Amino acid sequence: MDKLLIRGGTPLTGEIGISGAKNAALPIICAGLLSPESLYLKNVPHLNDISTMLRLIGQMGVEVTMEGNEGLTLDSRGLNNPLAPYEMVKTMRASILVLGPLLARCGEAKVSLPGGCAIGARPVDQHIKGLQAMGAEIRVEGGYVLAKAKRLKGARILTDMVTVTGTENLMMAAVLADGETVIENAAREPEVVDLANCLSAMGARISGAGTDRIVIEGVTALHGASHSVMPDRIETGTYLCAAAATGGSVRLTNTSVAFLESVVEKLREAGCEVVSDQDAISLNAPGRLKSVGVRTSPYPAFPTDMQAQFMAINCVAEGAAVIRETIFENRFMHAVELIRLGADIKIDGNTALVTGVEHLDGATVMATDLRASASLVIAGLVAQGETLIERIYHLDRGYERIEEKLARLGAAVRRVR
Ligand code: EPZ
Repeated sequence: MDKLLIRGGTPLTGEIGISGAKNAALPIICAGLLSPESLYLKNVPHLNDISTMLRLIGQMGVEVTMEGNEGLTLDSRGLNNPLAPYEMVKTMRASILVLGPLLARCGEAKVSLPGGCAIGARPVDQHIKGLQAMGAEIRVEGGYVLAKAKRLKGARILTDMVTVTGTENLMMAAVLADGETVIENAAREPEVVDLANCLSAMGARISGAGTDRIVIEGVTALHGASHSVMPDRIETGTYLCAAAATGGSVRLTNTSVAFLESVVEKLREAGCEVVSDQDAISLNAPGRLKSVGVRTSPYPAFPTDMQAQFMAINCVAEGAAVIRETIFENRFMHAVELIRLGADIKIDGNTALVTGVEHLDGATVMATDLRASASLVIAGLVAQGETLIERIYHLDRGYERIEEKLARLGAAVRRVR
């Protein structure tokens, strides 16, 4: 398995481009199942999760054609196998996003339950509850969700908690349903809005995306369209944190501060200077950051996907900070690895007290999930000496060419087989 070898101590400086958003591209690729006409996508990131999703819909009969560097065309005229097998779903939970579109387009679906992952049980009860409200007959048998619906009917759905892929799944099911669907307590994440924009380009009738109440007027069919995937705000935030922790100065292009206010505010509180123009963000870091507490919450509050990265920067900041994770039940796995590097972190349930230390010392650490891996990279970039990060397949799921981009910013990093 690949490992990442980092020699810490170099401030990151320079300019890199941000890729398209993984968490927007994944549901948008599933939207391609909804129409027999072609969907042309631009700015699709080259990530393992994306190739997994393309393989998954490919075995259903969808033709995927790569176009140039970040483009692809989906042609689902030949969609004839509404099945998402366990072997593929177990490697990527977001596969559950095919459920709504398959039900809407084919009237049936057999989708393996995603199962949990390192950060939590990750149930999909809200996805199922919402589809049942729209008239789907759903059984869970042998680890699979078996769903049938001649034609889904519009319904009013109130989810028990804010769920990003739950909102996305239900929105995709509703666009071809008979009548109006209202999703209350909907997720307001920018990726939900990006999906809604793509669906609208395909002829869907959606209003309220980005608010907690989304209204979808079902239509009988969707047509082809082209859509450019939004920039990845979590990749953006991750590189901003890496620059902040190393006392660097970077400029990130093809991205926007628009969807990262909560993260930028915290970086400014930590002592960074952050400026943005319409499609780039620049950050200048102070010699040493000030500790900054965070509490994760649904958008527009501080994103859970940036919690691990902020724990890393607090490890070497001045002072102590409290980090509270309110979305997932087990998202502090990076803490024990950071402690191996010399961090002072005390965990109590979903709260972590991080007291900044003068420096971290390189060691061998293990990545456990995507954003935990990112926090170990940041810690390795600031630690004295060498840090070897194992199981970096987690990183490759969500960060395109990470060692290349870091090297371009001056980091001493290389992938070892
Ligand atoms: C999406 O996951 C993202 N993944 C996650 O990013 C992100 O951390 C998460 O939203 C929160 O922002 C994609 O978009 C592909 P949720 P999702 O449904 O939709 C509970 C990354 O690093 N819940 O919003 O699976 C759930 O257990 C990944 O890129 C139920 O109980 O998250 C969690 O506690 C990690 N029942 C909370 O709600 C359900 O039916 C929020 O989960 C659905 C969710």
